[in-house]
Amino acid sequence: MLSSVLVLLSALAGLTLADTFNLYAYGDGIGGLPLHYADGAAIISKKAPANATNSDVVSFTTSDGQLVGNPNTTSSDPPFSNTVLFIPGPDSSSDEVGFLNASATAPDDEVTSKFVWYGHFLLVENDAGELTSLFSVQKSSDDDEEYALLWNTTDSDSSSGEFISVSMRSVAPSTD
Ligand SMILES: *[C@@H]1O[C@H](CO)[C@@H](O)[C@H](O)[C@H]1NC(C)=O
Ligand SMILES: *[C@@H]1O[C@H](CO)[C@@H](O)[C@H](O)[C@H]1NC(C)=O
Ligand SMILES: *[C@@H]1O[C@H](CO)[C@@H](O)[C@H](O)[C@H]1NC(C)=O
Ligand SMILES: *[C@@H]1O[C@H](CO)[C@@H](O)[C@H](O)[C@H]1NC(C)=O
Repeated sequence: MLSSVLVLLSALAGLTLADTFNLYAYGDGIGGLPLHYADGAAIISKKAPANATNSDVVSFTTSDGQLVGNPNTTSSDPPFSNTVLFIPGPDSSSDEVGFLNASATAPDDEVTSKFVWYGHFLLVENDAGELTSLFSVQKSSDDDEEYALLWNTTDSDSSSGEFISVSMRSVAPSTD
């Protein structure tokens, strides 16, 4: 099992990151799209997400095991600040990854502090102590390269399409 291998290796999985970093999604046909904040939603997109009032690429730092996001662009009127990445918990009815107000207490069904690095790969420790990566996006017929980031989807979650598994990494795609 991949997950048990990852548990064995987890002792080696230290934080190998710069102080601030961006997250990028990689998957079949998805070659490293940066993660954006878009009105509280976690969107991976080549360009600024459509229809969002407050959005930007997220620049992350880690604090107490949480991933704290601020806009990647400096502004005197930032569209958001100190927002915390969450994934829906095992009992959540939602499969959308999103952001919380860092000053607020996370609801029970939103997980903010179980992130673990395996090299540059972002993983999540589940209740059994296994390291998992259950990120995905829904396949789209648009070619706008904009997707909501999802967690732990099953095929029955969608009547309209398939999901593409993605990994979330802290390294940008190479530009050559
Ligand atoms: C943005 O809004 C337009 C008009 O309502 C809609 O057609 C389009 O699908 C929306 N785009 C996204 C990415 O939600
Ligand atoms: C974030 O900002 C840095 C410069 O401050 C820039 O080099 C980098 O490309 C930006 N990241 C994204 C994903 O736009
Ligand atoms: C994924 O969802 C299933 C129910 O659909 C749940 O039983 C399982 O615990 C979830 N796993 C994680 C890691 O959230
Ligand atoms: C977060 O909560 C604090 C305190 O309630 C509030 O002042 C701040 O505006 C909130 N930030 C966002 C981004 O909602």
